[in-house]
Amino acid sequence: MTRSSVDNLPLSGQRILLGVTGGIAAYKSPELVRRLREAGADVRVVVTDGGSRFITPMTLQAVSGYPVRSDLWDATAEAAMGHIELARWADRVLVAPASADIMARMAAGMASDLLTTLILATEAEVILAPAMNRVMWASPVVAENRKRLEARGMKFIGPGSGSQACGEVGEGRMAEPGEIVSALATTTTDRPLAGRRVLITAGPTIEDIDPVRYVGNRSSGRMGFALADAAARAGARVVLVAGPVSLDTPPGVERVDVRSARQMHSQVMQHVGDCDAFIGVAAVADYRPVSPSADKIKKEGRPVWNLELERNPDILADVAGLDPRPLVVGFAAETGQVEENARAKLESKGLDMIVANRVGENAGFEVEDNALVVIEPDARHDLGHGTKRMLAGKLIEHLAHRLNQGKDES
Ligand code: PMT
Repeated sequence: MTRSSVDNLPLSGQRILLGVTGGIAAYKSPELVRRLREAGADVRVVVTDGGSRFITPMTLQAVSGYPVRSDLWDATAEAAMGHIELARWADRVLVAPASADIMARMAAGMASDLLTTLILATEAEVILAPAMNRVMWASPVVAENRKRLEARGMKFIGPGSGSQACGEVGEGRMAEPGEIVSALATTTTDRPLAGRRVLITAGPTIEDIDPVRYVGNRSSGRMGFALADAAARAGARVVLVAGPVSLDTPPGVERVDVRSARQMHSQVMQHVGDCDAFIGVAAVADYRPVSPSADKIKKEGRPVWNLELERNPDILADVAGLDPRPLVVGFAAETGQVEENARAKLESKGLDMIVANRVGENAGFEVEDNALVVIEPDARHDLGHGTKRMLAGKLIEHLAHRLNQGKDES
């Protein structure tokens, strides 16, 4: 069973951290939690001091199914799931209702309570559904704070217009829970990998012979880095396990540098646990020297040198053997009978998909361009020839379609 095919709801698998701040619209929060859960999201709630004046944590705990956090200094709650862990856990942070006060504190970069600290510590998408009196919403300082938050990539849903709890009529009402859930589902479509976690390997691995020599290969990492970039742009949380390459980390991507195949194997196994897809682009050394030397091996008295090698673990096959497992995508670097050899690897390693490319003189390795064919057990898709960046975009689109297949068909 692949983890990606578990269900087909609009927000399925998404981990949403809901921040409830002080405003009368907090009475809509239980309904919002219920709707988010119905849409497939896993919801944890954090309430500010102000928020808890309008809605009790007990109510939110009952509807979310988890204890509600409110205090940064709560030792028991921190021992269960620390605030940094919670910030990492979230795929999206939704602040609803978002008061003028939280907007100001966020704009100023404050970490004065649990919610603002989590927002500063998270790499997840942050979305606000403001709610306040119409004059407050129209005030220049609130407008300025909104601009500052938007400039940092935060998104706004609403506010709407209508009669307000204070008796006035105008713009400042929090969007209805149904509207918020629809907006979240729509942005998920625009970013087809939103809420997904993708693990990618890239580059070569290096197997040391002695302190100055190694067994390596010609992979530059370009193909894998382009895929990490495309997956992050499509909204995924991406971990990139990279062999030694000289490339910049794509924006928003968490990079883990390794040297050898065994190090790459260990990092992949540490990160694969909650992934929706694994893409093995790295040119992993199949063999490593049996006895690497701590000192430089001398050439004197050695007219011929027989280097004894042993097999490295097969990272891709090991990920494919996990249960449950992510969608597993391999790459096949071939010099001849490209598609036949790739299909044989798809079958022998038990993959969901393999991407075949020809390597050799000016092809596959190092260069900026490539030509890719995606092979699946019952399908073949020629992605054509082009820059690695362009091909990465096409491949990620195809992968998103596979992951969201259940949703697309519903
Ligand atoms: O990095 P670039 O210069 O941009 O070049 C891109 C590329 C040519 C390296 C890339 O497009 C590519 O083809 N990567 C796979 C290279 C490779 O090792 O292919 P393979 O046919 O030997 O291995 C098949 C698959 O098994 C690959 O997904 C590989 O990551 C995986 N593998 C192999 C051996 C091993 N011990 N563990 C593995 O996980």
